[in-house]
Order: sequence, then structure tokens, then C-alpha cells
Amino acid sequence: MSLLQVENLKAYYKTEMYGISRKVRAVDDVTMTLEANEIYGVAGESSCGKTTLIKVLSGTIKPPLRVEEGSVKYNFRYGPADMSTVSEDELRDNIRWKEISYVMQGSMSVLNPVRKIMKTFEDIIATHEGIKNKADFKVRIEDHVKKLGLPPDVLKSYPHELSGGMRQRVAIAMATVFKPSLIIADEPTTALDVVVQRGVLQLLKEIQADSKNTVLLVTHDMAVHANVADRVGIMYAGRLVEEGSTEVIFQNPSHPYTQHLISSLPVIGDKTGKSSLEGTPPNLANPPEGCRFHPRCPRAMDICKTQVPAMQNFGAGHRAACHLLSAQGGQQ
Ligand SMILES: Nc1ncnc2c1ncn2[C@@H]1O[C@H](COP(=O)(O)OP(=O)(O)OP(=O)(O)O)[C@@H](O)[C@H]1O
Ligand SMILES: [Mg+2]
Repeated sequence: MSLLQVENLKAYYKTEMYGISRKVRAVDDVTMTLEANEIYGVAGESSCGKTTLIKVLSGTIKPPLRVEEGSVKYNFRYGPADMSTVSEDELRDNIRWKEISYVMQGSMSVLNPVRKIMKTFEDIIATHEGIKNKADFKVRIEDHVKKLGLPPDVLKSYPHELSGGMRQRVAIAMATVFKPSLIIADEPTTALDVVVQRGVLQLLKEIQADSKNTVLLVTHDMAVHANVADRVGIMYAGRLVEEGSTEVIFQNPSHPYTQHLISSLPVIGDKTGKSSLEGTPPNLANPPEGCRFHPRCPRAMDICKTQVPAMQNFGAGHRAACHLLSAQGGQQ
């Protein structure tokens, strides 16, 4: 049984300014599943809807964001939950931190700048589980932090006293304290330099290997996906355009957009310069008809301007939505 099934999810930002209403179609008809014991990477350039998708998956939907259509169903350890009907009480008591933890883009949001790290751990545990015995609690947190390879002194520090990499590790330590079924990490390494990045990703990988849970790793950095993810989903302008095992996505990408993302990765010793795409991603308040990628696609055909390409299966979990592939015998 999958951990999560997302079907035809549409989540839009609806705003009203000076009497003009605007609808930003940030997630538009996404269908995907997450399995237990996997690292699933969500890729795609800025503004394609990655953060919006995980806001919905984690149940942190606030106006102007609204789920328009579709379903988001989990099979948690304590039973099934449908995110479109779940109550705020259930989210607080059973789901947040315990089943789903969310390391937000910019990590600092979980760390209180005026509280030492141990106090923030205390706040989280007191809210979601209660603390019966303070001494036991301290030992538990110290053990947890030590097990993740962090120096115990971090617990006595204020967030500003730690380096960016250490803060990110602390945020991950907080996210894993209840051993959740799903850890969502949004651009966890984007602000870090490459060496520090490696340490943070290694930590995420080790935690996953140890607890066999699911990690949803969101980043525009394809090199990170190549190193960490088991499967990758590529988003473009609010839609999932391709999905497959990391091996297939990097060695045999089908969608022209994925092909562009892969070919623009730097290769050591290659001085030929990388191809760049013409144009910019579409405005999601007024996306193009047909395939949303067609205005930038080097291989666009007439049909691409009018018809949305259906997702087609190519076997072994490889799916892509592109009219060029229709002739290749994919099954819808
Ligand atoms: N609060 C908001 N109100 C209106 N539109 C929003 C809001 N938040 C995001 N958007 C729009 O929704 C679209 C998707 O944004 P989102 O933050 O999900 O993208 P992203 O893929 O996470 O980008 P990045 O890589 O820059 O983090 C963008 O067009 C963005 O401008
Ligand atoms: Mg984002």
C-alpha cells in the first residue's frame, strides 16, 4: 500500500485586488503516489509550484491558497487520512511532526531566534506529546542529536550562533524527533555551499536508510536529485510533466523539458557551453493553452498549442506528458 495518493490535484491562489480577481494555477492537475521507504525528488525551475504542492501535501493550506479539485489521501500508521477533510485538531494531534514533518524553505522558520535550540525542542514536544519528566526528555533529545552526528553543544546555542549548515541539520533533527512516516524538505540545501550541502544531504539519506520512511525532497537543483533521490518528478508551470526512477530520468529523459534540465547540468571538463532555453516560464495566472511548455519547446508541433498532452506510461513507473511521445506507444 502506498503512503500517499494524490489524484488530479488542483490548488490555486485566488486573490482580489482593486476589484480585479486573479487565479494563480500553481498546482494544476497533479497525480502522483509516494511509497514507503523511498526518497522522491520534486524538480523544476522557480515558480513552477513545488512549494505550493507540498503546502497541500503537508496540510498547511492558508488563504489565498485553496484546493480546487482532487484528493490527497494518506495511509498513516494509525490509519487513513484524507487531507481535504482532515480537521485542524487531527492535524495537530496526530499528523504534524508525528506522521508528516515539513522542513520549510529557509529552515529558520522552525527555529525561534530568541530561544535556545533545546527550548525549541521542548516547545515542539510539549505541544505534540507532552513532557512528563524533564530529565528523561533532556536525555532523549541529547541522544537523538548525538545519533544524528550533531555536537551536543548545539542544544545550548541560539540559532544565530550556528552556521547555516548546522541550522539546517538542527531543523532536520527537529523534523525527525517523532520518527514521522514522511519528511518533506523544501530546498534544504539551496543556501549552503557545496561541501556543507553534501553533509546535510548525507544526514537526510542516513535518516531515511535508518528509519525506512519516505522523504519528499524538493529542489530545483538536479545534481542534488541525481545524488539523493530514488525517483524524480519534474514539474513545469504547475504540472507534473515527467516521472521515473532517477536512473531513467537522468539516462533516458523523454520530455523535452527534462532533457533540457539534464543537458544543462555541468560536466567536468566540458567547455562547450550549455544550451539555454529561450523565454521564461509562463505566468500561472494566465498560462498558455495546450502544453504549457510549448512556447519554449524546441520541438513544439501544432497540436501542442491547443491540446494538453496526456500522461503516458512507458513501463517501470516511467511516465511523461508530451505529444511527441504519443507515437511511441505509451499507454494512457
Ligand atoms: N501567497 C501567494 N499568493 C499568490 N500567488 C502565490 C503565492 N505564493 C506563491 N504564489 C505563486 O504561485 C506560483 C508557484 O509558486 P511556488 O512558491 O509554489 O513555486 P516554487 O516552485 O516553490 O518556486 P521556488 O523554486 O522559487 O521556491 C508562482 O507563480 C508564485 O508567484
Ligand atoms: Mg519553493
